[in-house]
Amino acid sequence: MSEQEIGKDNIKEAVKQRYARAIERPSPSCCGPAPVQPVPVRNSCCGPAVTETMKGSLVKSAGYQEEELGRLPADAVQNSFGCGNPLAYAGITPGQVILDIGSGAGIDCLIAAEKVGPTGRVIGLDMTPEMIERGRQNTREAGVTNVEFRLGDAEKMPVADASVDWVISNCVINLSPDKPAVFREIARVLKPGGRISISDIVAEELPAAIRDSRDAWTGCLAGAISEAAYVQGLEAAGLREVRATSRLVYDAGQLQGLFGDSACGITPGACGDVGDLAQATAGKIWSARFEGVKPYLKAVASEVRVMPAQEADISAIKTLLAEAELPGDVEGHRDDFLVARHEKKVVGCVGMEVRGSDALFRSLVVTLAYRGLGMARRLYESLVAHARTRGVERAYLLTTTVEPLAKAWGFRRIDRAQVPKRIQDTSEFRGGCCASAVAMSQDLRIPDRAASCCG
Ligand SMILES: C[S@@+](CC[C@H](N)C(=O)[O-])C[C@H]1O[C@@H](n2cnc3c(N)ncnc32)[C@H](O)[C@@H]1O
Repeated sequence: MSEQEIGKDNIKEAVKQRYARAIERPSPSCCGPAPVQPVPVRNSCCGPAVTETMKGSLVKSAGYQEEELGRLPADAVQNSFGCGNPLAYAGITPGQVILDIGSGAGIDCLIAAEKVGPTGRVIGLDMTPEMIERGRQNTREAGVTNVEFRLGDAEKMPVADASVDWVISNCVINLSPDKPAVFREIARVLKPGGRISISDIVAEELPAAIRDSRDAWTGCLAGAISEAAYVQGLEAAGLREVRATSRLVYDAGQLQGLFGDSACGITPGACGDVGDLAQATAGKIWSARFEGVKPYLKAVASEVRVMPAQEADISAIKTLLAEAELPGDVEGHRDDFLVARHEKKVVGCVGMEVRGSDALFRSLVVTLAYRGLGMARRLYESLVAHARTRGVERAYLLTTTVEPLAKAWGFRRIDRAQVPKRIQDTSEFRGGCCASAVAMSQDLRIPDRAASCCG
């Protein structure tokens, strides 16, 4: 049976029934009969069943901290059916609004609630009433008051437009028969500048035996799309800078456990030998975590101001540089740093190190949500104007990533040996940039060269 033959509504009904059953089970196991020994401590519907002995490594590999799980009601942890940890390394900050799509028994909602603190809010959305009820119970038991659960479908979410800072989700979107609708909904509910951190199962070239199995669909396998299709789908919905940032690849042994599982896997015998299937699909099914951002509209660009950096901006600049993996020595050069500021936030920066009439241009960063608005060019042009007031005649830069952009602005590639010694002696040139970086230069005495080259 293909997806069309299974029928979209049928898939959803089957998914609901399955997760209602999973949460109703007396034993906290979605993926198999009640265990005797060893005791599963964290189930994964979308990964191999987890035993006490595996706990440490799984917790670590998924990025959950044992202490943070220790603070949660045991039921929320035991009824975790995720395949990753969307909260690991996500930069959630106090006061933000988080939406967890397919929140299940609430594990990620409760962890997010701690991260956003009393001034923030978490919305858990799930289409299975039994899951919503369990999430509420666990939240009450945890004594948490900033989480609310809403019954609803990810394809048509009961969430206001542009109202959340983060969309997180853990092993859910693969279950949707209409992923473009889910991706559009994510883009709709995010505020401009809002971000996603989504863990999900992805797969390449699944055998028809899996693709056509309703059991495999509700078990997070048959509905899995490729990593590239995921990225493309989210970008088509309007998100930007979408990328997979971490992966947990299942080996044949783990897949065999998953396929052979009576509740989560594939109907025994329906797809042939599970061992053969696991061998055939090893390395082709994994859990990936996707990041991305909803960009600001072009209109916002006119609200962004480029100005000299102040002392108080240094820590924000350092954060930007660290995120871009660029050297963070700013203090000695603060007078030659410019920032792009929007609503009191530093959203971009650029700087230079001046040596006589030469300068090394460096540290050009624009935060994710402000890319595509021409900010990099504005920062660059402002730096050129500033450099001219400082008597700079020739600008140099080192880059591994922006050569085409720099070329459009009037820089030309040169041999590293052609770079004057005083520029080679700058801290950025000496320590900061790898050997593969390209050296470029531009004569700033030629006025408006960049403008004439770029129209
Ligand atoms: C594999 S479980 C993951 C639960 C939870 N994220 C966790 O990590 O424990 C999938 C959950 O997504 C929910 N779900 C599946 N499809 C959904 C949809 N279209 N809209 C809302 N919830 C959905 C199911 O009811 C179930 O609770």
